[in-house]
Amino acid sequence: MGKASNKERLTRSAARGLAGKGKRKSRRSGSTLREPRPPSRGVERLTIAIDGPSGAGKSTVASFLGRRLGYVYIDTGAMYRSVAFRVKEKGIVPEDEFAVGQLASSLHIAFVIEGEQTRVFCDGEDISEAIRTPEISRLASFVSRQKGVREALVRMQREMGKKGGVILEGRDIGTVVFPDADIKFYLDADSGERVRRRYHEMVEKGVEVDFKETQQELLQRDHNDMHRSHSPLKKADDALSVDTTHRSVEEIVDEMVRIVKAKAKGVKGLLLTK
Ligand code: DC
Repeated sequence: MGKASNKERLTRSAARGLAGKGKRKSRRSGSTLREPRPPSRGVERLTIAIDGPSGAGKSTVASFLGRRLGYVYIDTGAMYRSVAFRVKEKGIVPEDEFAVGQLASSLHIAFVIEGEQTRVFCDGEDISEAIRTPEISRLASFVSRQKGVREALVRMQREMGKKGGVILEGRDIGTVVFPDADIKFYLDADSGERVRRRYHEMVEKGVEVDFKETQQELLQRDHNDMHRSHSPLKKADDALSVDTTHRSVEEIVDEMVRIVKAKAKGVKGLLLTK
């Protein structure tokens, strides 16, 4: 991350939360969302897609960008992790696509803001930490290949994002969930740097991890996510590429805010500078 201080480094733990309060609840399966705060600093309620591989810094950047713009931030990876968590807990065979798909469409997933953090609730239970283990990462990548799971979660994500003023972060947002998003960013970083980030994130959380295993797991997961038949991770043709390897969060977010504001004013032909 070059000159970036530790605080600025793109680790997920750098900042996951969003300022702002208020949430809308549904009693049925689906999702709960805090209501978007009114757009700040003259930025309209655009839909922003952020995609990219693991460890590219999507969550951190999306969270900071959300706070800067007064937009809701939706971590769609946490939704796939929630399905994986319940599959494991209920002892469902992960290969049983029918059962996993049914489970996915029955879940109620909620993002709730607590101070600087966004917590993930599944059917009323706070599973924010429980979904961040290496085992759940692997299982989330596995179940995310399944058509039924994707259909259920994409439906929820479209519902969450339909009012705009929202940043969705994941693997297929710009290509499948919101192909007409107003702005699409594709974040990536050198694979060594992505592995280092993921390793430090785990260590910071007190999870016992081995560097080599973290590396194998992350690269394997990227491979799975990029080569599955349903909605593989790929850069949308009209997405702006952002290489986060040597840049601070602040620098990247400043540039994104500039782009979003220009887009809101109708300025065309925007390019990210390195
Ligand atoms: O971003 P993450 O590491 O929390 O995502 C966990 C898994 O979920 C990831 O391996 C692939 C899957 N995923 C997906 O298929 N589509 C998304 N939009 C987000 C995540």
